[in-house]
Amino acid sequence: MTDLFSKFDPLIQQRETLLATGVTDPYNLVMEKVISPTVAICNGRETILLGTYNYMGMTFDEDVIAAGKDALDKFGSGTTGSRVLNGTYQGHKECEDALKEFYAMDHAMVFSTGYQANLGIISTIAGKGDYVILDIDSHASIYDGCKMGDAEIVAFRHNDVDALEKRLKRLPADAGKLVVLEGVYSMLGDVAPLKEMIRVSKEAGAMVLVDEAHSMGFIGENGRGVAEAQGVLDDVDFVIGTFSKSVGTVGGFCVSNHPKFEIMRLVCRPYVFTASLPPSVVATAATSIRKLMHGSNKRAHLWENSKVLHKGLRDLGFQLGTDEPQSAIIAVIMPDLEQGAMMWEALLEEGLYVNLARPPATPAGMTLLRCSLCAEHSIDQVGEILGRFERAGKRVGIIS
Ligand SMILES: Cc1ncc(COP(=O)(O)O)c(C=O)c1O
Repeated sequence: MTDLFSKFDPLIQQRETLLATGVTDPYNLVMEKVISPTVAICNGRETILLGTYNYMGMTFDEDVIAAGKDALDKFGSGTTGSRVLNGTYQGHKECEDALKEFYAMDHAMVFSTGYQANLGIISTIAGKGDYVILDIDSHASIYDGCKMGDAEIVAFRHNDVDALEKRLKRLPADAGKLVVLEGVYSMLGDVAPLKEMIRVSKEAGAMVLVDEAHSMGFIGENGRGVAEAQGVLDDVDFVIGTFSKSVGTVGGFCVSNHPKFEIMRLVCRPYVFTASLPPSVVATAATSIRKLMHGSNKRAHLWENSKVLHKGLRDLGFQLGTDEPQSAIIAVIMPDLEQGAMMWEALLEEGLYVNLARPPATPAGMTLLRCSLCAEHSIDQVGEILGRFERAGKRVGIIS
């Protein structure tokens, strides 16, 4: 018998080598208690959270929590069914209405996760004989959506408008084409040049899908994302998003103005063949989305936090993923996985949680300490975060 697990041996070996150094397992942290969007108890210690996607700090919003409790009381704990059978409650419709209003678009479809939204939309709309043209650093859910569909896949260099244009020009003029982009790329926190990319895509007759997972709620005047900030939202055919980041719960969605969009509810397998979100979840999502429409003060504070942290880390001597702060994600580049894990642990001992990210999730084989800021981080907390980075960085020898 061939052991089907033997393909994982190199990863098992790498993990064992890392843990043999005595470092704490960075992928096994337990939050014993969560006190607020920015503070939790980890290993018995009060820890500042700088590695969640709770960008707008909605997880403890009073109205959001009240809406969830009310729906739990009135509609029960779950739907036990697919959206197309017994799994569409009033709350799912209200959530889709909130999304339509948030984006000012005609159609909204709620999925059980953002992963499933990408999986479903990409694999369903790009079929045999069509092409999906995607940034090489795209999220796993985009790649998996491509794998699940029958379209030809064409990747282009990260954020490179010329490379996208060249790829598009090589494709048959009359073939169906879907260009898939992200507003913010979550590893380095860099923003896509959507305006130029959408222009070349439209010139080549392609439809455009933009995943705004890491920008919804924060970027753009109304928090609609990078496409809004760059003035091109009207040219985007499909916006994908998630409730697991700024919205502060779980779920995914696609919004669109395409006149035939509603047919997706019958043909999109990751929408049809899975249970719908519990009523309490869609109630919290709808309430949160409606509050995010009026979140301009929070957006301004989050930008301030991002600027202060970026400058502070650079002044301390850390190498960062972007020259300027472009989003709520600030990536600190580590020399290698071992030193990255040591730095991650030193920060945790200081009472600061960040994400340790490594290949294959990261571009160019990089090890990153990914910091994601929250609109609920006070400016004092950001100062405290910088102090902890300085102490940990000197202890591990990343900075002098
Ligand atoms: C760009 C991007 N798209 C989609 C997803 C999936 O979102 P969800 O957590 O709702 O499955 C993520 C999650 O990390 C993401 O970063």
